[in-house]
Amino acid sequence: MSLDTWSPASWQNKTAKQQPQYPDQEQLQNVLTRLAKLPPLVTSWEIEGLREQIAEAADGDAFLLQGGDCSENLDDCENDSIVRNLKVMMQMSFVLIYGSLKKVIRVGRVAGQYAKPRSADMETREGVTLPVYRGDNVNRSGFTETERVPDPELLLRGYERSALTLNFIRGLSSRGFADMHHPENWDLDFATDSARSDEYHDMVGSITNSLKFMEAVLGSAIRQSESVDFFTSHEALHLPYEQAQTRRVPRREGWYNMSTHLPWIGYRTADIDGAHVEYFKGIQNPLGIKVGPKSDPAGLVDLIKYLNPDNQRGRITLIHRFGADEIASCLPPIIGEIQKNKLNVLFCSDPMHGNTFSTNSGIKTRSFDKISSELEQAFKIHYQQGSVLGGVHLELTGDNVTECIGGAKNLSEPDLERAYKSNVDPRLNHDQAMEIAFLIADQMKNHR
Ligand code: PEP
Ligand code: CO
Repeated sequence: MSLDTWSPASWQNKTAKQQPQYPDQEQLQNVLTRLAKLPPLVTSWEIEGLREQIAEAADGDAFLLQGGDCSENLDDCENDSIVRNLKVMMQMSFVLIYGSLKKVIRVGRVAGQYAKPRSADMETREGVTLPVYRGDNVNRSGFTETERVPDPELLLRGYERSALTLNFIRGLSSRGFADMHHPENWDLDFATDSARSDEYHDMVGSITNSLKFMEAVLGSAIRQSESVDFFTSHEALHLPYEQAQTRRVPRREGWYNMSTHLPWIGYRTADIDGAHVEYFKGIQNPLGIKVGPKSDPAGLVDLIKYLNPDNQRGRITLIHRFGADEIASCLPPIIGEIQKNKLNVLFCSDPMHGNTFSTNSGIKTRSFDKISSELEQAFKIHYQQGSVLGGVHLELTGDNVTECIGGAKNLSEPDLERAYKSNVDPRLNHDQAMEIAFLIADQMKNHR
């Protein structure tokens, strides 16, 4: 379908995978009408600004740090958890900047990451079969009929929580909290076993001294160091929700998804003929595309050309997630095809989603070593092929959860039971995330 006939609803003529079945369609329509009237969460200026920064990262002049929960919970929209997650992203970004001397683009999987793709529609436990949990804007994770039947009202709750979260993040990142003059706000504030915590403290000291030095030389305060940009992203999976937040803006061409800066297409919904790709084609936002072992290089080139016919810089971010055992065979041909076709894309490594496995007792986890290995291989392969790895995509939390095994505290399988909080995929905890930040900074230094 060409863009002349595209509308925010044209995806409805195609097959939409991974959509919940609502028993009451009238109630759904009613909710969507209310949603479509509510104010946007982000602005087109921010979206355009992010696209320019992604183009810089694709050229190797900036680096994308995208991270956050696998799936946000409505109940976690509270002071401490927002602060902790923002803080770990800030701390990681300082490690990356310090190590690479590049600008870091911070993008949370936040303020809208409420819809999840699942491998089956139904779940059976002890003879009882119910709809699978699809994220807090669709249904709830408890295993009862009331909790699992999709409820349209949850879309409004998700939108509202997104707005509350974003409001707080905007406040924190624009004053005080993010100010480089006040390192106490983003220093490591609890005892950490991270092998690199001394290095982190030295780095913080060095940044504040450099800032003081520059201000003394200039004779004035460096105001830009008082605030940081922080962008949002989520998998734009629930198409009726995304449609309701898709708007035109004055004095700009086209349509914008105003619920997030950087929506991405999940690995399971990236068919070129499918409804998700149809929806993404018509929006102006920069787009993420998940790429994995089943993505065929030629098909991926077709998909990119379809979504970005003018080869616009900053439009496409390829988030590759092959797994530590497959990246060496899967990534090189993809880089080759992109180079051959001279496509402008930002390559970003997601070392999480290809490395998930279940323990013997049935707990979903990831090993820190596999995650590190996929990242190291990603840097090396891009470097060897003359390409740029310009970003990472991580599932992490500032909380001290025990969801991934390994890392400095060397969490093992029995530890997983202690503080496993994710409803879907396992996240790096605070220490593990900081270690990964140091590993990325080292890789960036080694592959300059
Ligand atoms: C995710 O990012 O949580 C996810 C489901 O990823 P993927 O589409 O890569 O499997
Ligand atoms: Co996930």
